[in-house]
Amino acid sequence: MSIAYLNGQFLPIEEAKVPALDRGFLFGDGIYEVIPVYAGKLFRFKQHIARLENSLRSISLPLEQSLQNWADMCHQLVERNQLDNATIYLQITRGAYLERNHDFPANPTPTIFAMITPLPSIQRQPSSQDLQGISVITAEDIRWQRCDIKAITLLANCLLKQQALECGANDTILVRNGVAFEATSSNLFMVRDGVIITPPLSEHLLPGVTRDFVLWLAEQHGILTEERLIPEHELLQADEIWLTSSTKEIRPVTRLNDAIIGDGTAGPVWRQMYDHYQQLKVQLYRGEIDSNSEGEIAL
Ligand code: PDD
Repeated sequence: MSIAYLNGQFLPIEEAKVPALDRGFLFGDGIYEVIPVYAGKLFRFKQHIARLENSLRSISLPLEQSLQNWADMCHQLVERNQLDNATIYLQITRGAYLERNHDFPANPTPTIFAMITPLPSIQRQPSSQDLQGISVITAEDIRWQRCDIKAITLLANCLLKQQALECGANDTILVRNGVAFEATSSNLFMVRDGVIITPPLSEHLLPGVTRDFVLWLAEQHGILTEERLIPEHELLQADEIWLTSSTKEIRPVTRLNDAIIGDGTAGPVWRQMYDHYQQLKVQLYRGEIDSNSEGEIAL
């Protein structure tokens, strides 16, 4: 049975209960993070907590917690569940009050919830499924104007993902005025002539921790990167397309609205990046990288 965290307590997940008047339940008034754990270490933890703090500031929800407090709570979840490879889901809502009222409460008592789910162990070689890639459609981005906040209000993302599934595809790339920004739960990358291209940060996309990591990793290995807008029609000319996230790492896209991307399998730049990513995880396992390493890889 999985052990979760709720408001200062560790308890079996089935016993983690939140009042029906919680503003997360009534209004979707909250934010979250998804943090990968490799070899029992919290991957890119500082970056995840920095984004969490930014999300809290953006929704005017004050919460005093040190990085160390967050790290202690997450490490306890890892230890109590005895998981080496996992993702931690951490959600904070504005809390529960006696009546449903749109106004913010004067002195909020946030609801803090975290759970952990296992991830597959390190994969030195890509699986045939990885190499085959995924298929995506494009659709108009019907979300709001603050997609840079990691808000729990994800109905539009769910509708857009479902749209892909109903078309027999795996995901949807979201487009505003002819420009592609990201997918329903991942950031967007394209490779053209050996250059890795991703849209610049804006209110139309989440500042992905994996996005940042992929840019950093590419630069470490001398691969050219560029942050610029990607018109939807240019995706069809891409040599490779990838989606990135903390749970999916780097996922190659090989079909876009029924057109084949590249040769229809994961491309050579993806393969290079896959190897670099896995190599870094191996270094984490061997204890060759820790929180003092350059780039603050893991805690
Ligand atoms: N999603 N864009 C959106 C809309 C996302 O929801 C996510 C992550 C990303 C990638 O961010 P990161 O690299 O920091 O995981 C981009 C998480 C995994 C989720 O909702 O489960």
